[in-house]
Amino acid sequence: MIEVIKHIDDQIDLISMKNEQLEVVVSNYGCTIIKVIMADKNGHKDDVVLGYDDFTQYQTLDAYLGALVGRVANRIKAGQFSLNGQDYHLAVNNGPNHLHGGIKGFSYQVFDYTIEDEHTLKLHYLSKDGEEGYPGDLDLTVIYTLKDDTLTAHYQATSSADTLINITNHSYFNLSGHKENIYQHTLQIHASQFACVDSDGLTTGELKDVEGTPFDFRQPALIGERVEQDDEQLKIGKGFDHPFLFDTQSNQVILTHEPTGRQLIVSTTLPQAQIYTANYLDGRLGKYGERYYARDAVCIETQNMPDAIHLEEHPTTLLKKGETYDEITSYQFKVIQ
Ligand code: BGC
Repeated sequence: MIEVIKHIDDQIDLISMKNEQLEVVVSNYGCTIIKVIMADKNGHKDDVVLGYDDFTQYQTLDAYLGALVGRVANRIKAGQFSLNGQDYHLAVNNGPNHLHGGIKGFSYQVFDYTIEDEHTLKLHYLSKDGEEGYPGDLDLTVIYTLKDDTLTAHYQATSSADTLINITNHSYFNLSGHKENIYQHTLQIHASQFACVDSDGLTTGELKDVEGTPFDFRQPALIGERVEQDDEQLKIGKGFDHPFLFDTQSNQVILTHEPTGRQLIVSTTLPQAQIYTANYLDGRLGKYGERYYARDAVCIETQNMPDAIHLEEHPTTLLKKGETYDEITSYQFKVIQ
């Protein structure tokens, strides 16, 4: 069942998508995932994503809790790029670089929406040519589907001119229901390479094999046993804040919290994910009156290569006029005994 449960104002709503296994509360503001409520192995329900009770925090703060991120997620070096012989200048909003679509990226935009059927919510946003400095009118449709224990996000976009696109969702998962930090969460990532970053979090273009490093999650490992290890890239990122390049085409990331039996399986058409251990959460007030600190959650941000426009010969983030960007990421919230 899908129903509007709250009007925040005359444009912004909270919409509940619910079945016997899951309740997902979404807002049409930034396509934000506000809550994901699931049972544990004893039937006890908790909310397994971070968020805010006070809606204005989504509109004013910068950690992108639950938000869709675009037009281009992650960083673009110096907020500049050239396309078809033209130079484009974007906001520099993260040290010397552009981050997550700019000052008013898609996370801060109101989408129009329709409830298509009992499983399907369709959201839409037209980003005008020049918005946040990007070329082309970009027409983006986001379809959230809830079936059984799986939430699927389907992103489709076209542009009136060649442009850049890299859409992700920035949910902060904590399968304990934020009863503890993520040290006792087991992570498995089917990735044999990761991308190195500089001290500003920008991908440098260097890819490293995970073999023999704390980044090797090909076999499940506890995050707490890895994230504080003495490793140069972990120090630079203040934890994990790196793209992992997938070896498989489905079920690429599996996050498990053994004590509650909760497990999240992320499956995507995209080639990588930025794994981010909430390194910059600073004690801000979140839902249920709880404060959020570093390592309180993990983000699994499926995407194409950050800063692809500068790093790749054929940038995967380039969307040409007449082409369709079409990507799917699904989140299966399982209970294992
Ligand atoms: C980035 C982090 C950043 C966070 C919140 C992540 O995707 O990689 O460096 O702090 O988003 O903005």
